[in-house]
Amino acid sequence: MKIISTVRELKEYLKNINLSVGFQGNQSIGFVPTMGALHEGHISLIKKAKEQNDFVVVSIFLNPTQFLKGEDLDKYPKKEVADTKLCKLSGVDVLFFPDVDDIYTKDEASILAPKARGFVLEGESRPGHFNGVLTVVMKLLNIVNPTRAYFGKKDAQQLNLISLMVRDFFMDVEIVPVDTVREKDGLALSSRNAYLSKEEREEALKIATSLRNATAMVMRGVLDSKEITSKMREILSPMHIFYVEILNREFNQISHVEIGNTVILVEVRVGTTRLLDNIWL
Ligand code: PAF
Repeated sequence: MKIISTVRELKEYLKNINLSVGFQGNQSIGFVPTMGALHEGHISLIKKAKEQNDFVVVSIFLNPTQFLKGEDLDKYPKKEVADTKLCKLSGVDVLFFPDVDDIYTKDEASILAPKARGFVLEGESRPGHFNGVLTVVMKLLNIVNPTRAYFGKKDAQQLNLISLMVRDFFMDVEIVPVDTVREKDGLALSSRNAYLSKEEREEALKIATSLRNATAMVMRGVLDSKEITSKMREILSPMHIFYVEILNREFNQISHVEIGNTVILVEVRVGTTRLLDNIWL
């Protein structure tokens, strides 16, 4: 595995890979952007990228522009040594580890998330967060120029906004959604789970319970969104709930679950940690 820390070097390397002897040219590149503190969820993105491409690039970049003032940028878990080992063991070809100064200059153009979709749900309580996500993803996609890029379904709104950006800017990359990986007890894997105390982790299990209960209601034939979300709120209480929403796959609110076209989304605060999860029905 090659470790590269500058944009210039990575661009040069990828150009040479595609031209080098043994490669026929036009090799497919799978790209997995991350902020580090890798877990099984990230590994499943890497696995999928390896299955579908000749060459896999992973980036680890703790993107400052997607954190609001007072958020957890400074305490976000950093595990460079373990992350490097995991990437190597997972068969990653290039690990890209850029510095902030290599990615951002002082006064520059950036991407604005769409008004209606980028400032609701997580974007409502974190205004501007998705501007930062889209800007860095646009930069990273332009640097790596991958055939396919891999994003987890757990961050469903992020996945939706990135897919819209790729469509709206006529970008030549396939965005591949990958299923959420969970602990045995149902807790969705997240780098932020590291913040949870034992008691908070116990409390956080209510998120998966609420989603499982919603699925069971749907299977019993209850399709009314209000009925389902109010039961979910009951299960999640007394945690602070940012939102519980039932949307279609285009992220529009729907009054009734449409099987095969629905996402049920939850975001709560457990202690001081924001946790989100969802289920695709
Ligand atoms: O999902 C993440 O880890 C980040 O939002 C991403 C896509 C790597 C952009 O910084």
